[in-house]
Amino acid sequence: MRAMLASVLNQEVQVSHSLHIIVLAAGEGKRMQSSRAKVLQPLGGISMLEHVLTAAAGLGPSAMHVVIGFDAESVQHVVSMFAEDNAKIDVDCVIQQQRLGTGHAVQQAMGQVPQEADVLVLPGDMPLIQTATLQQLQQAFEASDASLALTSFIAADPHGYGRILRDDAGQVVGIREQADANAEEALIGEVNSGVLMAGADKLNDWLRRLTNDNQQQEYYLTDCIGLAAADGERVLAEICPDADELMGANDPLQLSALESIYQQRQRKALMQQGVRMPLPHSVQIRGSVQAGYDVMIDAAVIIEGSVELGDDVIIGAGSVIRNSRLASGTKIEPYCVLDGAQTTGACVIGPFARLRPGTVLDAGCKVGNFVETKNAQFASGAKVSHLSYVGDASVGAAANLGAGTITCNYDGENKHHTEIGEHAFIGSNSALVAPVKIGAQATIGAGSVITREVPTGSLTLSRAAQKSLANWATRKKNRKKKP
Ligand code: UD1
Ligand code: CA
Repeated sequence: MRAMLASVLNQEVQVSHSLHIIVLAAGEGKRMQSSRAKVLQPLGGISMLEHVLTAAAGLGPSAMHVVIGFDAESVQHVVSMFAEDNAKIDVDCVIQQQRLGTGHAVQQAMGQVPQEADVLVLPGDMPLIQTATLQQLQQAFEASDASLALTSFIAADPHGYGRILRDDAGQVVGIREQADANAEEALIGEVNSGVLMAGADKLNDWLRRLTNDNQQQEYYLTDCIGLAAADGERVLAEICPDADELMGANDPLQLSALESIYQQRQRKALMQQGVRMPLPHSVQIRGSVQAGYDVMIDAAVIIEGSVELGDDVIIGAGSVIRNSRLASGTKIEPYCVLDGAQTTGACVIGPFARLRPGTVLDAGCKVGNFVETKNAQFASGAKVSHLSYVGDASVGAAANLGAGTITCNYDGENKHHTEIGEHAFIGSNSALVAPVKIGAQATIGAGSVITREVPTGSLTLSRAAQKSLANWATRKKNRKKKP
């Protein structure tokens, strides 16, 4: 019985090949006119390559091979960071010493691919690609008898892309690159996305037969299509309805077009989660945002890295919020820059405040205009409303720092800590020379330079006593009259 069951199961099991993904990232991208590799150009704050690797990893491949060449060290660094975050997938880099074309690039990686595997090739400069679209190609390939499948799309402007050539029966017979296309071929609107799938054994065979007999004297991966068709193999071109996803970025103009599509996606997702944006097109999300109910993000706000916004948070116009966590009810007035800051309750920040890493504000705190904070913890209700620098400090609950309060935390060599007790009152224009401790409920007279510990509850002044010289104006006049 057991044996019978096993044999029935065996018949049902589909032969599933392991999937190896090759990502092409060796090109210089001359048209980008940059000293960095093209695939490292950022989109939404991370490199195009990371976007592609993430979409590809969604397929759960056995391995991913990234072909690198130009600016190889930097590209390799990005790949290793990605590999660290995705330990389940084997990710490696293959060096293409000379950039002799996309076919040559794939050839370099084929040494890492077993003969019986399926291969998916992806260009590294296609950052909007989604896992689902790759899955569609994979499924279409597996379900058909085609030995090569590719994703095509109808381009509004096909210029620059390889054109899909079909015979009268609609069968794909080849791809003609822009540089080699005649006037008639150039009119073809169906173009190659650069995403291609085939069995490793056949792909190896076509790759071996490539020549560089073309305008660019390159070994085109796309010539495999013509070779396959000439062998009588079936080639499948899956037309993808969302051309945006497949757009490549070859120059800054195309990159900015992709960026605006990407930003639109990001904003749409946030608004679908309930975030209000009165002027959405001006908001840029270069990272990830988690937002609660009734969050409002005003015009020209830039969000970077990982940002969490609690319920009712308001981000005022023109603010930049990077890697920060803002508790429910926090209000950021316009034109603030927050980096590595945190509020643990409702606070008011700005306008024109700069909160640097390690700033933590408890409920009811206020950090006002032209105030800079760094590595500073403010207990509930503490206020620093104008023109101050608070760095390497802890500020007690309900303490009030007057305008122009400066923690002098740096002696030229080391940073020192300032501790301000709860309910302390620091008069305007005071310099607190760290390391120093201000006791709870202490008052510091305006204009003081504090270098020693201030006792709890005391009034401390350290400034020259005020002096007045009588009749100064008359004396000045008399001096002028003398010859
Ligand atoms: C390629 C396709 C074209 C397709 C288009 C889609 C070829 C010959 N042409 O053209 O049919 O419509 O993509 O965007 O494949 N690369 C290497 N090594 C090389 C050359 C390129 O790694 O020697 C990499 C590049 O870094 C890039 C990718 O391959 O990531 C595509 O190269 P690119 O020069 O951008 O090709 P396209 O001219 O856009
Ligand atoms: Ca390209």
